[in-house]
Amino acid sequence: MEYLEIEGGRPLRGEVHIQGSKNAALPILSAVILHRGTTVLKNCPKIIDVMYMLEILKDFGCRMSWEGENLVIDASELLDSRVEECYGRQMRSSIMLLGSLLGRMKEACVSYPGGCVIGARPIDLHLAALKRLGAVFIEEPTGLKAICRQPVGTTIDLPFPSVGATENVILLAVLAEGTTILENAAREPEIVELCRFLNGMGGDIRGAGASRLEIRGVKELRDTEFTIMPDRIVAGTYMLMTAAVGGSVCLKDVPLEQLESVQSVLEKMGVHQESRGQEVQLSCTKRPRSIGELSTSPYPGFPTDLQSPLLTALSLAQGSSIVRETIFEARFKTVEELRRMGANIQIEGQKAIIQGVPRLCGTDLTARELRGGAALVLAAAAAEGSSRVYQYHYIARGYENIIRDLQSLGVVVRYSRRQ
Ligand code: UD1
Repeated sequence: MEYLEIEGGRPLRGEVHIQGSKNAALPILSAVILHRGTTVLKNCPKIIDVMYMLEILKDFGCRMSWEGENLVIDASELLDSRVEECYGRQMRSSIMLLGSLLGRMKEACVSYPGGCVIGARPIDLHLAALKRLGAVFIEEPTGLKAICRQPVGTTIDLPFPSVGATENVILLAVLAEGTTILENAAREPEIVELCRFLNGMGGDIRGAGASRLEIRGVKELRDTEFTIMPDRIVAGTYMLMTAAVGGSVCLKDVPLEQLESVQSVLEKMGVHQESRGQEVQLSCTKRPRSIGELSTSPYPGFPTDLQSPLLTALSLAQGSSIVRETIFEARFKTVEELRRMGANIQIEGQKAIIQGVPRLCGTDLTARELRGGAALVLAAAAAEGSSRVYQYHYIARGYENIIRDLQSLGVVVRYSRRQ
């Protein structure tokens, strides 16, 4: 069993470069197979979820190599369109391969998706939208078989701006016959990034970042070289860590324009922020303040992926706060662990009521999912005494090297593996 051992309670001091974005890299890797040629990706994060995705692409027949920091993928010849169950169940993003496999191979087999245990996470919106483009689905015991001989553009209105369903529509529509209009599309920066990538390959997608997307089908795509944007959720994690632990932190390569909702929360908490270009200097010398009420919501609202790290910071704030989770119904899994450290948090349905306490006490903690795991690392770094955070592998799904980053900020942390 892998775990992190963290000595908490020391103010942060140091700087961290923010890695490439996980949620941008995964749909882009899926999109790579739409082109019968070579793609070069820069700043692709070396995280477990990306490694799984690369294994899946290899199974399809992609050839790939790391040339220094550049990931080179040759998808000229694909032989298979089946996502092996072992990968599909590990990672929800494997569902993202439906659109691109159908676009390239006209058929696909995927197992029902896995991923973080933060809610039921159905795929009904994906399937309904892809059907509108001409896909047919056959349920099999281990998953779904999909066929789409000729995708044809149409108008699709999503009942909810699902990030994944928006990405799947884009992936199938980009090579479809005619134009697809997607209403109520997700507006997340990762959608904009996917469109920027596909347009760089010769795609014709308009309206990225707005609720109405127009995807004009093109005949084929071309070779491209693309730099993946920095990860707003990793940056947000370390910004909230400054509030939770205190100290002075410099973050480099931060997509600040995507983090307005987080910066305004930090301002309410009394964290001093000074930004220059893609760099932000944060400092927090006193106990953070509570924030009143906040709800997670689709972009540009406060991201659900930062809700757990926010709870950690608020459990140490002066005063009480209320956080409503509106995206995933089972995303308060860290609360029990935080309570064992001395936090005062009550859960009422989708609402967490946090009465800040002056200190948390280090103890043994278990990560149950990616962002919740990161929130426990923050709590361990803020707590008095030492803590162990078990099930580190969840955290490695999204943070390239959280140990190196913590050490750069002066946190005493060790990685251990026990048989
Ligand atoms: C993506 C992100 C995840 C982030 C989330 C919301 C990736 C790899 N993951 O996840 O980190 O937390 O966006 O910003 O990019 N839903 C349905 N039916 C569907 C699809 C979704 O009911 O077919 C529901 C989900 O259960 C959830 C909500 O819609 O309650 C949002 O899901 P969605 O926006 O699709 O998130 P993901 O793409 O899974």
